[in-house]
Amino acid sequence: MIQFAENRCKIQQGVSFEGFTYPETALVRKVQQMVPSYAPTSLVSLKSFAERLGVRAVLLKDESSRFGLNAFKGLGGIYAMFRVICRELGLDPEITTIEMLQEPPYIERIRQMVFATTTDGNHGKGVSFAAGVFGCKAFVFMPAGTVKVRARAIRDAGNAEVSITGMHYDECVAWTAQQARQNGWHLIQDTSWSGYEEIPGWIMQGYTTMYYEALQQMREMGYDVPTHLFLQAGVGSMAGAVAAAASVSLPELPVIATVESSEAACFYDSFRVSDGSPRAAHGSEKTIMAGLNCSVPCTLAWEILKKCAAGGFACKDFVTCEGMRLLASDPQKIVSGESGAVTAGLLKVLLTEPKYESICRNLKFNRNSVVLLFSTEGDTDPENYRRIIG
Ligand SMILES: Cc1ncc(COP(=O)(O)O)c(C=O)c1O
Repeated sequence: MIQFAENRCKIQQGVSFEGFTYPETALVRKVQQMVPSYAPTSLVSLKSFAERLGVRAVLLKDESSRFGLNAFKGLGGIYAMFRVICRELGLDPEITTIEMLQEPPYIERIRQMVFATTTDGNHGKGVSFAAGVFGCKAFVFMPAGTVKVRARAIRDAGNAEVSITGMHYDECVAWTAQQARQNGWHLIQDTSWSGYEEIPGWIMQGYTTMYYEALQQMREMGYDVPTHLFLQAGVGSMAGAVAAAASVSLPELPVIATVESSEAACFYDSFRVSDGSPRAAHGSEKTIMAGLNCSVPCTLAWEILKKCAAGGFACKDFVTCEGMRLLASDPQKIVSGESGAVTAGLLKVLLTEPKYESICRNLKFNRNSVVLLFSTEGDTDPENYRRIIG
């Protein structure tokens, strides 16, 4: 049901990941807060769940309300698009406002700009939303098997032309990059590779907001620091960004683990080998965790996670169904989708099934553990959500 691969590359305390400290990400928050629909998402304490697991607290950041997009990914799209626009117009991002960009002469030039990306759903929604905010155009390409409701949500989020292709996710990423080069579009992809790092770096910085919001909210609730962070990974940009921010903002490195679908577990596979290089996954890519269905690690994320993650989990779909149901039945009734609930499901399976005791010991779980999780999406496929919740 679940498998764990320990990261045998060296875990480093106090590594300084440039660009992820609270002061270094001040511009990110400033830009996001200029968007009228910005509001911090809530941090929920799952009290009875924590009691049942025998830990001090399980805190869940519910990203379903982020920018009205039902997922966290808009945090990256809005900031990266802002930075690209400033770069193209020769503007200083520190003093540029979204309001300024709506005025002549900028508005006309922005209207001519075209962005392109591949997405499993949520990143495309963020890019479409950002294109709507800035008044430019976006082409969004989706892998084979995408459910129509996710494509429609991207169109509705802002300003994008959406196509469902016949390609796998990773093939589609390479094809979109080529199309962008040929057509003079700006590629705004949420994963990096050698030679394409600046924009994914901005996207990753964009994601740190949910971590820094959570840290502040935790402190207001009386918890000092998280001892454990379980982070979903598709290409790993979100996990890498949160892990980097945690490493540079906490006095001691928490226990960090990536959580993937066992059908596309590239971080799990990379930790299994643990020779310092990322590995592509060789799963079937058939999973209900659409947002995690990516088989090639983001290089920037890998460089971070190999230095600070304790390891990676690979989970069967059953695990996320457990998570979706347990969050839906919590007194606070959290709606968490297939890619959002897997960490909660994993925590339940790990801490309640005796066969995983030695993993729990290795990961230093005890009565004082404060676990921080991110429910990264709501019911982005409502029909499937209802089927699973029953
Ligand atoms: C809901 C959700 N959670 C987690 C992830 C994983 O993020 P990343 O691809 O940055 O690893 C995604 C990616 O699309 C997602 O949509």
